[in-house]
Amino acid sequence: MKTYKLFWDGKWQETEKIIDVINPYDNKPFAKVYEASIDDVNKAIDTAYNAKEKIASLTAKERGDILDKIADLIADRFDEFAETISLESGKAIKFARGEVARAIETFKFSADEARRLSGEVVPLDAAASGKNRFGYYKRYPVGVVGAITPFNFPLNLVAHKVGPAIAAGCPIVLKPATSTPITAVKLIEVILEAGFPADGINLVVGSGSTVGNAIVTSEKVAKITFTGSPEVGLQIKAKSGIKRVTLELGNNGPVIINKDADIYKALPTCVVGGFANSGQVCISVQRIYIHEDKYDEFKELYVKSVAEMGVGDQLSDNVVVGPMIDLKEAERVEQWVNEAIEQGAKVLVGGKREGSVYYPTVLENCTSDMKVVKDEVFAPVVSLFKFKDLDDAIKQVNDTKYGLQVGVFTENIKTAFYLIDRLEFGGVMVNDVPTFRVDNMPYGGVKLSGLGREGVKYAVDEMTEIRMVMFNLN
Ligand code: SIN
Repeated sequence: MKTYKLFWDGKWQETEKIIDVINPYDNKPFAKVYEASIDDVNKAIDTAYNAKEKIASLTAKERGDILDKIADLIADRFDEFAETISLESGKAIKFARGEVARAIETFKFSADEARRLSGEVVPLDAAASGKNRFGYYKRYPVGVVGAITPFNFPLNLVAHKVGPAIAAGCPIVLKPATSTPITAVKLIEVILEAGFPADGINLVVGSGSTVGNAIVTSEKVAKITFTGSPEVGLQIKAKSGIKRVTLELGNNGPVIINKDADIYKALPTCVVGGFANSGQVCISVQRIYIHEDKYDEFKELYVKSVAEMGVGDQLSDNVVVGPMIDLKEAERVEQWVNEAIEQGAKVLVGGKREGSVYYPTVLENCTSDMKVVKDEVFAPVVSLFKFKDLDDAIKQVNDTKYGLQVGVFTENIKTAFYLIDRLEFGGVMVNDVPTFRVDNMPYGGVKLSGLGREGVKYAVDEMTEIRMVMFNLN
């Protein structure tokens, strides 16, 4: 069984400890990876810190060309990346392929941003004391970026941190999820082959409480970009001091299907949006609010479609819902659903577990205080609700601690704008599910869903500092 190495000091590194990498479907290890100690992390941070000037001095053309080359090299190894993602994360292979295609685009968008990173002339003479002064600002890299990434998109959510950092001219210390490190190792191979200076990219694997904590608390790291749970996000915010922090946290993805909606348009997207990657997507569909006149019709069609979905081994082309990331998570969901049933919820389909596979589940008769509704379920579990009118829908949908993205189905433009203006979310997807994302759009949430925005351009903004320049021409 292969043991994958870590990377710092411009070299592949072996350490004293080794972690198993598990296929979540059969719970068996299929590879190993070295684990970093706190000392190792500090070496990785020092490497990045000492490379700051070198990386900052790469020209826009050099950064753009490297990023384009990374995209091309991922495309050359497309199937290998897709299989690695699927094997280590449990993501159904067809969605893993989709993730690789997106990551290629993310690096291409990063190349574009590298080439257009610029500033702005500021009309200082608009101020009373600004006569004969010329001003402009330019963006400069912040310094070392610490990137802490989750298991659910082992390639594209790493791309969303590494791509913008390279575009901005920042060295990186990357800590991928311990359950999905191999995709990250392969990405480092590609980044090096594309010609990015070896000391600009560093890879450490280990737990959040040791490796993650060392990155978050280091004074040599200027910016933390994290995707993961709200609990960890809040700890990072509390511990990171003066650093810039971007947090992409949870959601309990709502959808509104209004009386005037085309339910045949809503149906397939609500199926894929609720169950792709076994619901382990921050913008997964979790709560569907259906106008009372359409509820029974939508429910019948939805339950039928969900019951027909392929479930099982993620490497099979027919499977939509593979295993959850591990047995513990599948047991956690089972327990949340059982608790909801005890509190009055009714299972319309699913509601069972086999090993790490939790079957696609649709519930009704849920209340807003059940865990499967109020918390981020992060599993293939969707609850259906009725609403009477738009204000009732808005009230129910906004009644949450989260606010990442929401989906709204209506054929009426006035209804769409009425909802857009009143829904408290980072993104409103009209005639689509909250799960819609392309990689150049601003992506991030309000409330407990996070802080700041990703989507390459917006991430680059957060990885650069504005330096204001003024010439006194008096
Ligand atoms: C996430 O789970 O936050 C990312 C979703 C996506 O990029 O589609």
